[in-house]
Amino acid sequence: MIEAKGLVKKFGDFMAVRGIDLKVLPGEIYGFLGPNGAGKTTTIRMLTGTLKPSSGEVRILGMRMDESEIEIKRSIGVVPDEPKIYENLKGREFLEFIMDIFKCPRSETLSRLSELCEAFGVDYLDNFAGEYSHGMKQKLMVISVLMRKPRVIFLDEPTVGLDARSAKILKLLLRKYADEGSTIFMTTHVLEVAEKMCDRIGIINEGLLIAEGTLDELRQLSKEGHKNLEDLFLELTGQGKVDEIIQAL
Ligand SMILES: Nc1ncnc2c1ncn2[C@@H]1O[C@H](COP(=O)(O)OP(=O)(O)OP(=O)(O)O)[C@@H](O)[C@H]1O
Ligand SMILES: [Mg+2]
Repeated sequence: MIEAKGLVKKFGDFMAVRGIDLKVLPGEIYGFLGPNGAGKTTTIRMLTGTLKPSSGEVRILGMRMDESEIEIKRSIGVVPDEPKIYENLKGREFLEFIMDIFKCPRSETLSRLSELCEAFGVDYLDNFAGEYSHGMKQKLMVISVLMRKPRVIFLDEPTVGLDARSAKILKLLLRKYADEGSTIFMTTHVLEVAEKMCDRIGIINEGLLIAEGTLDELRQLSKEGHKNLEDLFLELTGQGKVDEIIQAL
């Protein structure tokens, strides 16, 4: 459903993504983890066609991004790292706009929309988006993607700004959608989210995919015998000496 081959992104002389190969299978939830600045958002932007790779190839649903960009974009859903909603539109107008540009089947989408609004406690669709808090915008963004039930869903740190209940509902919904056949690619810094939700995890560090597999497979990579994802992540990304740093401060 998602395939990257030798994906590279250079910004001037700086190489943000340095040759990434990955595959995500149907119905999988793939967690993409890595420290700040590792290249997660840059990779997602290339996988979703908002950023052109310097080299390498992206295939989504078997189609090449450089050949079938519009068709791919019609079939995927993207929740970006920052919710971007036209401030002068009311929530309802924004959702109508999304339904129009994606040519969503109306009655099915509207009924899913009302269920999603109920689930996430969204009762502010008649207010202007400019008046929403960050979390309110984030929920609307998530709903605008989930109401379309796309076959492939990308989410860049989707739980940031969501309250505990909304984050839990999102986690359960993504699992349900994946069980029903959607494929999900998400980044998160909340390792407990990755540990609980993801079928496979890829860890990117300084633009390179340094480890990939199920949680059990990643545990095998630990030289220090770490079992929980937090310690494992810090070991694999070479950031494990936290205790010494705290001592020194
Ligand atoms: N438009 C750009 N121009 C120049 N450098 C960029 C640009 N976008 C990203 N970068 C650089 O590429 C690197 C990777 O950034 P990216 O946003 O992909 O990181 P990230 O893994 O998503 O980090 P975070 O966890 O903080 O969201 C960083 O060093 C960043 O400064
Ligand atoms: Mg990012």
